[in-house]
Amino acid sequence: MFDQIHTILDEVNEFESYDLKQIEAFRISYLGKKGKITSLFQSFRDVPVEHKKEFGQKLNMLKNTAAEKVNTLKQNANKGKKSQNNIDYSLTPQPTNLGSRHPISIIREQIIGIFSQIGFSVSEGPEIEDDWHNFTALNFPEEHPARDMQDTFFISEEIALRTHTSSVQVRVMEGQKPPIRTISPGRVYRNEAISARAHCFFHQVEGLYIDEGVSFADMKQTLLFFTKAMFGEQTKIRLRPSYFPFTEPSAELDVSCTICKGKGCNVCKYSGWLEIMGCGMVDPNVLENCNIDPKKYSGFAFGMGIERIAQLIYEVNDLRLYSENDLRFLRQFKSAN
Ligand code: PHE
Repeated sequence: MFDQIHTILDEVNEFESYDLKQIEAFRISYLGKKGKITSLFQSFRDVPVEHKKEFGQKLNMLKNTAAEKVNTLKQNANKGKKSQNNIDYSLTPQPTNLGSRHPISIIREQIIGIFSQIGFSVSEGPEIEDDWHNFTALNFPEEHPARDMQDTFFISEEIALRTHTSSVQVRVMEGQKPPIRTISPGRVYRNEAISARAHCFFHQVEGLYIDEGVSFADMKQTLLFFTKAMFGEQTKIRLRPSYFPFTEPSAELDVSCTICKGKGCNVCKYSGWLEIMGCGMVDPNVLENCNIDPKKYSGFAFGMGIERIAQLIYEVNDLRLYSENDLRFLRQFKSAN
């Protein structure tokens, strides 16, 4: 009899469960009407008188232990159940932080998109460039100030960080026969003090078109198509004479002020015009340097800073913002693609 009490007590102590059904089944099989403990009570009358007291005490203790065990297990199981139910399935999920495209990338893609509509392909080249591709082939005279340490980051006498992506166009001309119609987007470097208006690196898209009989008028129409697509149908352009070693004649292209539409404001310094790119007819010396016959072929080239275009589209007036990675700035830009 006493042995039975001890065995059952061990069983009660060993039992563990978080499952309410299992706990209830346990309760029934020990404390239910036909349960193990209940039936021990029924055998109480068979216990010899001298043991009745001890047996009674032990049996009560067993019953209480089992009842307590069932209660605690049920409470724990309910707690677990409650914490599961605490999940509010109707709550909006934690937002995942999706990045947005950098404004320079957005504008670069737009520029590429516009030129691809009229058949320009995209060419890329190295940012670390040799003197030939960055300067010599482009007809820079030996003593030209752009070769000066002030403008160029030299790595050695012959190697520098490219100062423009015209270097890519030299590579294209060396490797392909006309007709050539390509743009070269990319990062360029200039040894400038960093300020709101200048940076030691920026991004360009330069373009090149070479074929038989390409004229200055072709260039003007191409660039007019670009500016209208970029800044709006009402945009006007003007070409001012300029100088670049690799183009002859050379020009600067202005667009009618995107802010005041040509009326005059502080962005265009009350002139109504904004300078956005350099352009011109490829100098015959450059064609010759790249083994293209200047008697047969002619072409035009142009080059613009992406930051400058982005500045006009987004009205951002500090160049440094583009490379500071300030999320408050970057989050403002959303691209359509
Ligand atoms: N390479 C020139 C620059 O970096 C831009 C340019 C390109 C001008 C082609 C004329 C023709 O400023």
